[in-house]
Amino acid sequence: MVQLTLPKNSKITTGKTWPKPEGATNVRKFQIYRWNPDDGRNPRVDTYFLDMDACGPMVLDALIKIKNEIDPTLTFRRSCREGICGSCAMMIDGINTLACIYGLDEIKGDVKIYPLPHMPVVKDLIPDLTHFYAQHASIMPWLETKTNRPAKEWRQSIEDRKKLDGLYECVMCASCSTSCPSYWWNGDRYLGPAALLHAYRWIIDSRDEATGERLDDLEDPFKLYRCHTIMNCAKTCPKGLNPAKAIGEIKKMMVERIV
Ligand code: SF4
Ligand code: FES
Repeated sequence: MVQLTLPKNSKITTGKTWPKPEGATNVRKFQIYRWNPDDGRNPRVDTYFLDMDACGPMVLDALIKIKNEIDPTLTFRRSCREGICGSCAMMIDGINTLACIYGLDEIKGDVKIYPLPHMPVVKDLIPDLTHFYAQHASIMPWLETKTNRPAKEWRQSIEDRKKLDGLYECVMCASCSTSCPSYWWNGDRYLGPAALLHAYRWIIDSRDEATGERLDDLEDPFKLYRCHTIMNCAKTCPKGLNPAKAIGEIKKMMVERIV
């Protein structure tokens, strides 16, 4: 289990308990964070019961079943249902992860679901990722070149392409950044694991011609050096990536260019 903090606006109360499904013998309890910015009330935790013999295997299947069959007001993001859009990230059983690829059988006991921690909440399970996306944009997540555009394409050797493995797969779900204590306390200035993993992805791209500028921009007491190698990011990443390692590589490059 990575962490168990609650969302920023949390004076959480006990909410509504919905009835159990009639006649079901395989019932599971779900406790889900609810907050509606329009009703003026404190956040609450609602309790739902599902017949697991009529529910898909993933946490997202359960959320969709609750929304479709019990409570249409339950609000959450989802799109691809296969772990590639990154939109269904939330805190499940104390772990920041993707609801669509997290199996209900991985959870013992009641299923507890909260939005990603330490982020403002838009509604229910939806965090406000505006600042997170702005930080990603700030690292120039594109190929930056100065030489003339080649006639056909920017070419890359197979070996250089391989260096991007373990980086390009990031789906920008924010599970890592929102599991990082340094990001909780300094997220206004510390870029966090996700943005730094992307920064490294472009720094080591053999086709990119702005490596110096990219490193200059990260030479800052907060943007990069607030990473204290706590490793929550690598533990929680639902895609099995290691942002802490990428951050370590950037720090190494910083040292190497001054010695
Ligand atoms: S590194 Fe992993 S946890 Fe972090 S944003 Fe990318 S996919 Fe999500
Ligand atoms: S719905 Fe796309 S990652 Fe879960």
